Amino acid sequence: MPNAPSTPALIDIDVVRAAALSCTKCRLAAGRTQVVWAAGNLEADLLFIGEAPGFHEDREGEPFVGAAGQLLDKLLGEIGLDRTKAAIVNVIKCRPPSNRDPQEDEIDACRPYLQAQIDHMAPRVIVTLGNFATRFILESSVGITRARGRKYRRGEATVVPTFHPAAALRGGRFGGISPIDAIRQDFRVVRAVLDEPPPQSRHPVEEVVAASEQLDLF
Ligand code: URA
Repeated sequence: MPNAPSTPALIDIDVVRAAALSCTKCRLAAGRTQVVWAAGNLEADLLFIGEAPGFHEDREGEPFVGAAGQLLDKLLGEIGLDRTKAAIVNVIKCRPPSNRDPQEDEIDACRPYLQAQIDHMAPRVIVTLGNFATRFILESSVGITRARGRKYRRGEATVVPTFHPAAALRGGRFGGISPIDAIRQDFRVVRAVLDEPPPQSRHPVEEVVAASEQLDLF
């Protein structure tokens, strides 16, 4: 499993962050105001992964500070959480022009940074917001409408895929549910997992069923 966590103790996240902040590995470096590394608490048990910085994030240097971020904060509050209890990052760290979708080679160039963030945190719960984060973590081409509504295991972490908050702002219904109702449902699952006692023993990665295998069961 190429995205399986490596040894957290060996990750010096400050070194990785410094490398990311001056990264020129892909075309997005030319158009950015700044690299958008992370918000919240990179020592927390909970990690949210979005897609890419937008206009406001590029200006402020922090993920999810625009309208989608405000909705995310509100939904976090509904389950008794805030940004001190979670980290918020993106699959890619630089804003794509005109907020277009990230391209495959851009995701690949940025992969080591997100991988290092995951390895450093070794979070108990990873929430993937939308298609790009879900596909990255589940290593699958599955769309979010199909993937959400169940939990997956990725190394030690429980993965809860859900809609991107921007989809909730746009409205509509997907798979018989509105994105906002789906996110609320999924966030209740997140709360429940966090409320479980922390695992006493850590399972070797070899023993867990890879998320991609779970998806094959659909
Ligand atoms: N959408 C994202 O996916 N990430 C952000 O940081 C902001 C909006």
